[in-house]
Amino acid sequence: MTVLTGAGVSAGSGIPTFRGSEGLWKSFRAEDLATPEAFARDPKTVWEWYDWRRQMIARAVPNRAHQVLADWSRRFPGLTLVTQNVDGLHERAGTENVIRFHGSIWELSCWDACGREPWPDDRAPLPELPAHCPACAGLARPAVVWFGEPIDPDVLARSRRSVKCEVCLVVGTSSIVYPAAALAEEARAQNAYVVEINPEPGASAVDLAIAGKAEEVLERIDVLIR
Ligand SMILES: NC(=O)c1ccc[n+]([C@@H]2O[C@H](COP(=O)([O-])OP(=O)(O)OC[C@H]3O[C@@H](n4cnc5c(N)ncnc54)[C@H](O)[C@@H]3O)[C@@H](O)[C@H]2O)c1
Ligand SMILES: [Zn+2]
Repeated sequence: MTVLTGAGVSAGSGIPTFRGSEGLWKSFRAEDLATPEAFARDPKTVWEWYDWRRQMIARAVPNRAHQVLADWSRRFPGLTLVTQNVDGLHERAGTENVIRFHGSIWELSCWDACGREPWPDDRAPLPELPAHCPACAGLARPAVVWFGEPIDPDVLARSRRSVKCEVCLVVGTSSIVYPAAALAEEARAQNAYVVEINPEPGASAVDLAIAGKAEEVLERIDVLIR
């Protein structure tokens, strides 16, 4: 089984999704901040937004959705979880086999691509904004995939292999952001049984749509299969 997750699994932990009024920060839309163009124009503002999100995530704790999926990942070794989330809550819940499709908000990388590998930094707030690269003293950026940037080829290849599965759960994603949204379509094209869990019906065609919150629906399924 493969589980594809999006911002909706972390909504129950108080982390806003991108789409919806709670996703706004100082009247900016996420699509206008999470881009290389926005960073090139105004790195300080983009970093302030990330620093605000890092502080919010640092205070948050994994909810029942993260916990049930973490438990399944230990009980069913064939389970792979591909997440679009950058918050690290699946990992904090103890999930095994996590593929981070869009990187991690807890890693930084060099904006000037000086050759330094991405490095972990869990300080929230960061002492200095914008942050800098320890190797070349140029600007550092969050090591996340921004709108318009490609997915790491190895991550993409592993994710695509993972959707050659019998059952694919699609949890808490609006299925709008490509190529992430294509994974559920690929799963279905390869005859996986695709189940969506989302309080609002998503964009993609699925075999079964369960309208509900991830933290409630996963909890109920977990009780049924125990
Ligand atoms: N927590 C995070 O790391 C985080 C938060 C916001 C956005 N993002 C990034 O934004 C991009 C947006 O795509 P996306 O599809 O993940 O998010 P999205 O904001 O586009 O969609 C969120 C989806 O979650 C659903 N949802 C809301 N509450 C839910 C709940 N309790 N249970 C289940 N579903 C619920 C909504 O109906 C919506 O379909 C991704 O690339 C992701 O990296 C990440
Ligand atoms: Zn550098």
